[in-house]
Amino acid sequence: MKIHHIGYMVKQIEYAAELFESLGFRMDGAVTCDAGRDAEICVLDSEGYCVELVAPRETSPLYGMMKKYKNTAYHICYRVLSLKGSVEKLEKDGWHMFKEAEDAPTIGRDAKVVFMMSANIGMIELFEMD
Ligand code: NI
Repeated sequence: MKIHHIGYMVKQIEYAAELFESLGFRMDGAVTCDAGRDAEICVLDSEGYCVELVAPRETSPLYGMMKKYKNTAYHICYRVLSLKGSVEKLEKDGWHMFKEAEDAPTIGRDAKVVFMMSANIGMIELFEMD
């Protein structure tokens, strides 16, 4: 599976984006609101490496995680050919899907993502674009 991006949870998305820009990243589009995650999201790119900044609102299901871990990298997203096939394979390897497939408008208009969890290495995201 090819890595698509690394997801960072941040408190202040503008400050975080500025710091990534000082590290050589460039904004890929504007900061947008992801209704599903109830968070502000933006994507930055540096020579093909991509980071996704996620700033959850207080009402977001991710807010508790952010309070606990503060600013942190929290998932690696892998691009896959088939969400269904990849989920089935990973479940055989002990991964658990904890949220059904959802749209990811920040990544692409037709993008769908799934989050999976392992007790041993935490969370990953799978991304399929039709
Ligand atoms: Ni992500």
